[in-house]
Amino acid sequence: MIPDAILHQIQDRLDIVEVISGYLTLRRAGKNFKANCPFHGEKTPSFMVSPDKQIFQCFGCGEGGNVFGFVMKIEKKDFREAAESLAERAGVEIPKDTRIDPKVEERTRQFYLLHTKAAEFYHQFLLSRKEAHAARAYLENRGLSRDTIIQFKLGFAPETWDAFYSSVKGETADAILEKSGLVVAKKEGGFYDRFRNRIIFPITDSKGACIAFGGRVMDDSVPKYLNSPETEIYSKGRNLYGLFQARKAIREIDAVVVVEGYMDLISCFQGGVENVVASCGTALTTEQARLLKRHTKNVYIVYDADKAGESATLRGLEIFIEEGMEVKIVRLPEGEDPDSFVKKQGGEGFRRTLEAAKNLFDYKLDLLKTKHDASTIEGKVKIANDLVSLFSRVQNEILRSAWTKALAKELSLSEESLVAEMKKSAQRPGGKTQARPVETASGPVRLTARRVPQQAVSTAERMVLGLSLENAGFARRASEELVEEDFENPSARKIAVKIFQTTREGESMTAGRLAVFFQEEPAVMTLISQVAADTEIVADKERVLSDCLVQLKRQRIRTERTELLSRMAAAEQAGDQGRVSEFMGHLHELNKREKQIHEKK
Ligand code: CTP
Ligand code: MN
Repeated sequence: MIPDAILHQIQDRLDIVEVISGYLTLRRAGKNFKANCPFHGEKTPSFMVSPDKQIFQCFGCGEGGNVFGFVMKIEKKDFREAAESLAERAGVEIPKDTRIDPKVEERTRQFYLLHTKAAEFYHQFLLSRKEAHAARAYLENRGLSRDTIIQFKLGFAPETWDAFYSSVKGETADAILEKSGLVVAKKEGGFYDRFRNRIIFPITDSKGACIAFGGRVMDDSVPKYLNSPETEIYSKGRNLYGLFQARKAIREIDAVVVVEGYMDLISCFQGGVENVVASCGTALTTEQARLLKRHTKNVYIVYDADKAGESATLRGLEIFIEEGMEVKIVRLPEGEDPDSFVKKQGGEGFRRTLEAAKNLFDYKLDLLKTKHDASTIEGKVKIANDLVSLFSRVQNEILRSAWTKALAKELSLSEESLVAEMKKSAQRPGGKTQARPVETASGPVRLTARRVPQQAVSTAERMVLGLSLENAGFARRASEELVEEDFENPSARKIAVKIFQTTREGESMTAGRLAVFFQEEPAVMTLISQVAADTEIVADKERVLSDCLVQLKRQRIRTERTELLSRMAAAEQAGDQGRVSEFMGHLHELNKREKQIHEKK
């Protein structure tokens, strides 16, 4: 990683116009420069370079970025190589290894050592001590063999308050012990063990070094699992349980199965399914998706067959799709999780369910069909809306057209009407279209479009970001009037967060500099150069900004209201009058907020 400050220094000393004109003939066009795009064949120039913003953007093929992005693309270099060649040109030195604080380095080393010791301590305790008898019985009862216990180095933390602490206190500094999260300070001084009377699951990094623990109770007490806190060597969102053990199989099979829990993963392994990782009950992160993407692009999500599992599956889907991975989903029979399923059906049975895994389309369609009645027009429209918006985010065109066909057939709608829907939602950066049924004289239902909020970047989002990058005053207004949640598109939100943050610190931000923060995120990078280019054609910027600010605020209220109404309906159905009136209160709040916006305007 090259520090942002160094990258900014390089940018400050170079002019994008000068760099690009080393490759192309640029012609002046107003305050910008134009050329025939080097990235796609064209006769009339749609490639633009902005000296103010220090970005390039092609309106023809959509390529865009800052000076680093340009050199990467034209020289076919990776980021580091591009940065190095530009650094040389700018006379900036890139530090060899980004300096690590020696104190931090030493602490990290001790953390690793300590975790290795702890894993060994708990493991040996489980294997051989009399006091671990119940723990061994528990694991046996759950069907784990001694080999499996050894493979995953499972352990047992005894009930004694300081069994582990007293085993290491002579050799490790208390400060390190405490920071590691393995012991907890007592009020009256001294320490006690964090993990007591629990089965221990060591968590390793991708090289197999132990970096944290999960500990499970052996009865119904709570919390069921206790986990290590985040430390300099462990971050929950950057790790996947079992990846070290599963790596080889993931590569060989060229697919990975993602499950929720420690026990799910271990049971799969014992059943002979070894290309598995566990997300450990938290929402998947982009970093975890990227960790997997290094090994395979094919993902199977197999979460618990309950409500929580279902929504976690949907969130996981989004993350993997955004990373361009191929995702399939397995729905286990009601009430099962991979652990219980493998126990009943064996690894073979589990593998069969993987073969029958549904693609994104079938999974979503099935789910929607349980929520809406596909035999009514109302229901069809709801289902179509949801899926059409999903389609427009899928990159693969062949897949998209196959799904469109299938959906039309499934709902007995004409394919043309669905295609038309998708075109509309693609043309308008405003996002997904919400269709309304129109009965035509002779039969098939047609869908007409109406705008509703969705993940695609809305024009208002783009304008506000673009204008904020252009003018510090605009940025200030936006940061005062909006909150980051007003941006529904994830990339737009990331950009907004950075701009707002910089603005609040009293500094201003250009597109070129901003892009530096997102070198590793091509989607955000592209959006930055797009929004910067968008504002080129705006005449009355002041007014456009005002309009867009209002629009985003209103949009947010509408989204909140839709959510609220559906939760209210659920509460009503469940007969929970208390919740209903609580939601009513929220609703009034929202309506009041909306009115205020109108009045201000
Ligand atoms: N989890 C956690 N803390 C909790 C509950 C759950 O960290 N209090 C994480 C654990 O990683 C757990 C996963 O979420 O493995 C899934 O939770 P759950 O399905 O409740 O547990 P199982 O893995 O099924 O464990 P078991 O089969 O032993 O009940
Ligand atoms: Mn479970």
